[in-house]
Amino acid sequence: ERHVADILSPEFAADPYPAYRVMRREAPLIWHEPTRSYILSRYEDVARAFKDPVFTTDNYQWQIEPVHGRTILQMSGREHAVRRALVAPAFRGRELQEKFLPVIERNARELIDAFRTAGEADLVAQFATRFPVNVIADMLGLDKADHDRFHTWYTSVIAFLGNLSGDPEVAAAGARTREEFAAYLLPVIAERRAHPGDDLLSALCAAEVDGTRMSDEDVKAFCSLLLAAGGETTDKAIASVFANLLRHPEQLAAVRADRSLIARAFAETLRYTPPVHMIMRQAAEDVEVSGGVIRAGATVTCLIGAANRDEERYADPDTFDIFRTDLATDNAFSAAADHLAFALGRHFCVGALLAKAEVETGVGLLLDAMPDVRLADGHLPVERGVFTRGPESVRVRFTPAAG
Ligand code: HEM
Repeated sequence: ERHVADILSPEFAADPYPAYRVMRREAPLIWHEPTRSYILSRYEDVARAFKDPVFTTDNYQWQIEPVHGRTILQMSGREHAVRRALVAPAFRGRELQEKFLPVIERNARELIDAFRTAGEADLVAQFATRFPVNVIADMLGLDKADHDRFHTWYTSVIAFLGNLSGDPEVAAAGARTREEFAAYLLPVIAERRAHPGDDLLSALCAAEVDGTRMSDEDVKAFCSLLLAAGGETTDKAIASVFANLLRHPEQLAAVRADRSLIARAFAETLRYTPPVHMIMRQAAEDVEVSGGVIRAGATVTCLIGAANRDEERYADPDTFDIFRTDLATDNAFSAAADHLAFALGRHFCVGALLAKAEVETGVGLLLDAMPDVRLADGHLPVERGVFTRGPESVRVRFTPAAG
């Protein structure tokens, strides 16, 4: 009956937006048997699921714990507040400006230098999938020689999290990754505790709030979370900013002429094609939503991708328009944000400002290096993914830089 809502079907994977539209209009609350969860698609309902504490993150105990260990995502109440306060300062404006902007810039330039004289590139394979992970590894102060291993773990973690159908091999690979990551990072953590440096890993080891500090296991789990939370998301955001702009050349020209518009292009991209399409929650008690009841203990799938295109919230929601007036463009800073790509409320993305800095720097430097960038002949970026989603490739051509 509800074929349209089968979020595991190939039709949905190819293009979820028509299904989202039907769900919002006709079936805003659906029971989905294969994932054993209720699905929410309206802006108002998804926003509520993020803000109302009746919707907990207890589901993460089985969803992410096997690959990351225990992280702030699973926590609630005071425990969450204290743990979040331990990690959040590193991602605030001043720290980012002073410490990490040079790291971001250096990593962007390094990747761009590898293809700027070629006249063509795949911005996904050669930039987006590498840049945010390299930045995180570099922020943590990890050896450059280990960046490739970091990238391998990152790929495995993403596969684990996107494994909605429960493939046992992917699950087992995720568990192995957790062990390998621990075997690699725990000795580095011990070393930084003994000889702290000016890096993020040393800062996490030393952080203290109300007499609480993180154990080695906590620090390791948080770093593992950073791979997925900070890597894949920003990777897809950068690729999507480019895919969206290249498909709208007049908006690309406007951004090129006025770089302050990159912030708008980023915000509109997060609304129109968010990197994370769905986030799960668990109902602590029976809750009424959109005329139906979600039973206590049930899992709830919140469709960010659908909520961000709710016609009740945004005019002409299926149009990519960086100049739209119904979207706050500086919402990387607060949990009172607008589109739902960073969620809302207590678990609002800790790294929103870092993501913004990476996208603004990365996109700016890419535009500098490719003054006449355009899609390669006959190439149209195709989006892949159901849980997280972004262009599989963005193949471009441009006049090569000299030397
Ligand atoms: C949380 C999206 C970049 C670190 C979240 C959540 C979303 C999200 C939707 C909420 C998850 C939930 O409530 O269940 C994004 C997007 C990004 C991005 C779309 C890029 C465009 C980053 C970066 C970092 C990061 C660069 C690196 C620091 C985190 C952490 C949390 C989080 C640690 C957990 C916060 C908590 O539980 O209190 N992110 N994120 N994210 N994000 Fe991001």
